[in-house]
Amino acid sequence: MDKNSAIGIFDSGVGGVSVLRDVMRRLPRERFIYYGDNLNAPYGTKSESEIRALAMRVAEVLMAEDVKALVVACNTATSAAVATLRETLSIPVVGMEPALKPASFLWKGGKILVLATPATLKQHKFQLLNEKYGEHALIRPCAGLMEFVENGDLSGEPVRAYLRDMLSDYEGVQLDAVVLGCTHYVFLKRVLSELLPGVPLVDGNDGTARRLTDLLEKGGLLREEGEGGVRFMTSGDPAVYIPLMERLFRIPI
Ligand code: DGL
Repeated sequence: MDKNSAIGIFDSGVGGVSVLRDVMRRLPRERFIYYGDNLNAPYGTKSESEIRALAMRVAEVLMAEDVKALVVACNTATSAAVATLRETLSIPVVGMEPALKPASFLWKGGKILVLATPATLKQHKFQLLNEKYGEHALIRPCAGLMEFVENGDLSGEPVRAYLRDMLSDYEGVQLDAVVLGCTHYVFLKRVLSELLPGVPLVDGNDGTARRLTDLLEKGGLLREEGEGGVRFMTSGDPAVYIPLMERLFRIPI
């Protein structure tokens, strides 16, 4: 495997760009190919077998680009497909899970609210995590939330109304932390922190970046010289999604 090959990173759509940012901060010399499966988004309301088939197809596209490692920058695709991807591919595969473990350490006697897609929360993988770290967790599937980010709406009235309505169910509940268990939700941090002032919002992005760095180091796959960068790809309309990915790549979160 060539150290100078790119790293493939994918999500159902634009959410994984939030992971890409953290990963590139840690690995500034690496070259990335980011693939958004925008045509088939959302994954989070599909069945496990559908999600697995979609993830395998994306992995094939990225393997054809000769990537040296694969980051599944999507909690939903990870829970449905990471085991199959690891069995099938001959390169390191890094996945994600809702950051319930780090959030559980922020517990101060209240509740930890976990936001993720319905598919992620249904999976056995999440049930196991929840058994271990979810003693104080409130679990909230958020069908329809990623679509705002896919449409480039990060702080408009429609997404605010969705979040206000959802959070009204927890009025009077002491929230010690909120887990952003879908990579799209990371782009809603600003609005969420306005609605929940002082409540820590926890995502798994930096954990994923650290894991990838470790695996590359151990495999002798770190790129030692040259400038890093990213190329964006989409299964959707490039005129719509490439500019959106570029915008999300740059905005302050
Ligand atoms: N961004 C994906 C995740 O982290 C899910 C969005 C979707 O439903 O496709 O789970």
